[in-house]
Amino acid sequence: MSASDVRISTCATDLRRFYSIYPSSTYPSAGNPRVWRAPGRVNLIGEHTDYNLGLVLPMAIDLACFVTAAPSNDGWLRVHSVQLEQSALWRVDEIRSAVPGGGWSDRVVGVAWELMWRGLPVAGQNLMIDSEVPIGGGLSSSAALGVALALALGGPAGPTDLARVAHAAETDFVRVPCGIMDQFTAAHGQSGAALLLDCRTLEWRPVKLPEDVAIVVANSMVRHELAESAYRTRVEECAEAAKALGVPSLRDAGAGDLGRLQGTLRKRARHVVTENARVEAFVAAAACGSLEKMGRLVTESHLSLRNDYQVSCPELDFLVDTALTIPGVLGARMVGGGFGGSTVNLVRRDAVEAFSNTIQSAYRRSFGRVPQIHRCTASPGASEVLLSEVSPPVSGT
Ligand code: GLA
Repeated sequence: MSASDVRISTCATDLRRFYSIYPSSTYPSAGNPRVWRAPGRVNLIGEHTDYNLGLVLPMAIDLACFVTAAPSNDGWLRVHSVQLEQSALWRVDEIRSAVPGGGWSDRVVGVAWELMWRGLPVAGQNLMIDSEVPIGGGLSSSAALGVALALALGGPAGPTDLARVAHAAETDFVRVPCGIMDQFTAAHGQSGAALLLDCRTLEWRPVKLPEDVAIVVANSMVRHELAESAYRTRVEECAEAAKALGVPSLRDAGAGDLGRLQGTLRKRARHVVTENARVEAFVAAAACGSLEKMGRLVTESHLSLRNDYQVSCPELDFLVDTALTIPGVLGARMVGGGFGGSTVNLVRRDAVEAFSNTIQSAYRRSFGRVPQIHRCTASPGASEVLLSEVSPPVSGT
């Protein structure tokens, strides 16, 4: 892929900021910086199915995380986050014994830690993180960061291995028990297509969407406290339901098994079983251009996430309910882990502007915040940004 295929953020091309954080006078041995990019994602359908080894249909989007990296040559790994205006540093030879401290920089040292435990060399670097993916927006800012970092720190070039490294850093170091969907999408993203991914085999194929539908996300601008603990609880409940059914994972359960479960476990399993079926139905509907059917499935997914999986919240429900009253909206649902973040909306192309205006004013009236609206373009996965192709050389002063 050439850099011209990717919309390059100014943050990636403006090295002045990098040199203002790491001036050549203080870091004299630094070599030339290189820039790495990994996209966020929106998941069209197949929510909370990845850690149940089921089906998902995410799409890499045109909002990305950029990591600028230059060798430090002094045995230190340093990082600065432009969005958080915070820095952290570690001695490279101490990273193998690092433990998570609970902050944002765990995601950085976690990737280095994972690479080292895999026997891959990690050298000292000065890193700058600059991201367009909204933090807490449900669009996988963490996975975009993890994958961009895995590249910047010399991780494997193959996208599946790259995704595995970033995913393992998240589960084994940061200790978030997530599935692999987000990292896989950041690594494998396709221009103009979503990815139908089987989270058990990691087999995937690109799925093109009909021309006349736009994918629009609306960010609720909230993230409730509950998000992380509820995610863990759902992962545990699904494991418990699978165990009760005597199957390796809920991927192996069918509608006929649900009667053998009760209460909460039955609801959780019903979501997973019906959601896997909805992914397949959605892909079939997209192949024959059946927009109404696609929209209906997306909305059904939301109802299932709200009622059976119980991971929605008033803000997300409001955004979905309001979207469904707007002419030209085919379907809407919450996206990602839940309890805040964004909704994804399937909107007829000619209705996108009316959708944005209506949803923004309605949400502001009810919740006092303006939701960020973004029309997504399916984008390529992680890569190096070749600075020579996009900007004149910048001198390191
Ligand atoms: C988060 C996790 C993913 C996935 C989604 C829900 O984004 O990181 O692995 O489980 O929630 O589908």
